[in-house]
Amino acid sequence: MPSVGEGREFARANRRLGSSHATTRFNVKIAVVGTGYVGLVTATCLAESGNEAIGVDKDAAKIATLEAGNLPIYEPGLLELLQRNRREQRLSFTTDLSTATRDATLIFIAVGTPPAADGAADLANLWAVGDALASTARPGAIVVIKSTVPVGTNAKLMSRISARAGRPIEVASNPEFLKEGAAVDDFMKPDRVVVGVRSREAGDALQELYAPFLRTERPFLVMSPESAEMTKYAANAMLATKISFINEMANLCEKVGADINDVRRGIGHDERIGFQFLFPGAGYGGSCFPKDVSALIHLARTLDQPVQLMEAVDHVNNQQKQVLPRKIKAHYGAALKEKCLAVWGLAFKPKTDDIREAPALALIDAMLAEGARLRVHDPEAIANIRRIYGDQLVYCDRPYGALEGADGLAIVTEWPEFRRPDFELMRRLLREAVIFDGRNLFEPKTTRAHGFTYYAIGRVTGEAAPLAG
Ligand SMILES: NC(=O)c1ccc[n+]([C@@H]2O[C@H](COP(=O)([O-])OP(=O)(O)OC[C@H]3O[C@@H](n4cnc5c(N)ncnc54)[C@H](O)[C@@H]3O)[C@@H](O)[C@H]2O)c1
Repeated sequence: MPSVGEGREFARANRRLGSSHATTRFNVKIAVVGTGYVGLVTATCLAESGNEAIGVDKDAAKIATLEAGNLPIYEPGLLELLQRNRREQRLSFTTDLSTATRDATLIFIAVGTPPAADGAADLANLWAVGDALASTARPGAIVVIKSTVPVGTNAKLMSRISARAGRPIEVASNPEFLKEGAAVDDFMKPDRVVVGVRSREAGDALQELYAPFLRTERPFLVMSPESAEMTKYAANAMLATKISFINEMANLCEKVGADINDVRRGIGHDERIGFQFLFPGAGYGGSCFPKDVSALIHLARTLDQPVQLMEAVDHVNNQQKQVLPRKIKAHYGAALKEKCLAVWGLAFKPKTDDIREAPALALIDAMLAEGARLRVHDPEAIANIRRIYGDQLVYCDRPYGALEGADGLAIVTEWPEFRRPDFELMRRLLREAVIFDGRNLFEPKTTRAHGFTYYAIGRVTGEAAPLAG
């Protein structure tokens, strides 16, 4: 909680805000605006800890699905929680913001903040919700920004909605750090909770709300809204940097005949470095890292304080998405246009159906541009890929089905079920025994023993492929 000095500052800020919520006991009726990957997990997990939560979305089809007790997304463990909390009447959904926020003491905004054409975060959804809240939020309610937003957005939203409402409305920041694929676990057992507040009451309300999730002494970190907003960008920037770093090292390993797996072990045991997020691959994707890195770059440029390291991280990642396509082109040469390639893994990472900025999209685009045909498989993301590519691809329900009649296999996402395949069956199904592994799932000596030509990322596989491009 805030220090004494900070507390005084909060008290002053609170007087500026008016004391409408200073004495409120929070009966924690919660509204969550935006029921995507973050908002839906937030509403459901807050209901699971005993709160009455209501999710709001402008997407009527999504709300209808949720009202029917089904999930519009794939996220492990979420369906069971959703259904239980709906049964126990702690969790409901609506498209009507005013119904949802009428009695809410805490209103979370978890709408999308996608990248605009210039790389900046597009905040149109956030402003739209804020403007509506000015007339629907009840006096004393606290608006909490959970969406990832550029530093300064909290202050702008607060003055914008307070001006529209004609009374002060407090806006807090509470960036979310969950990972798709492990979102429920991350929300229920967070490494830390970060809040950016201007008043002690807002800090207390959020601490009370999160207390059930922090029982294992995980920290509740209170700071200014600006620091909370910056913390989210700094966290994703650091993680993206680790990935681009190891990818760059992996590419160099191939040139010098070193094996990135050995190098990774060699550096990871150094406690200052560690092993997390140091797996080379086909580049990072998803709805967060690419967009947050470019939003940070954009913000820094507007402030005339360029973040050169982040510009390099972004550049390295865009190049990395072309490494696997380049290996495939080098292997087949001009014959690629007559080939059919199997692809395992389309989601940007395992255990999600999210394909936003997925490396698989770069691979599919590159292969289609070369005239190759593709037979694709993913345990959860096929419906989303089909919405983009329609009849340009052959969609396969089973991984081995994708191999039938294919001239090789590219692996782009490391779903656990791909890790120990039946290599003999694979060789029988494929017309040519070649694997382009963008996730280093196998040991080169194993694939070789089964008669495969094997390309990986930064490993000594015996196959040479040009990296320069
Ligand atoms: N996905 C993640 O892993 C993750 C993790 C941490 C933070 N975040 C951040 O959280 C935010 C949400 O991300 P997401 O992945 O859940 O997005 P999403 O696209 O899955 O969901 C956003 C939802 O907001 C709804 N929405 C948009 N405008 C609305 C409006 N005016 N009224 C009501 N609903 C509206 C959309 O219909 C959609 O259902 C983003 O800022 C993102 O950067 C995402």
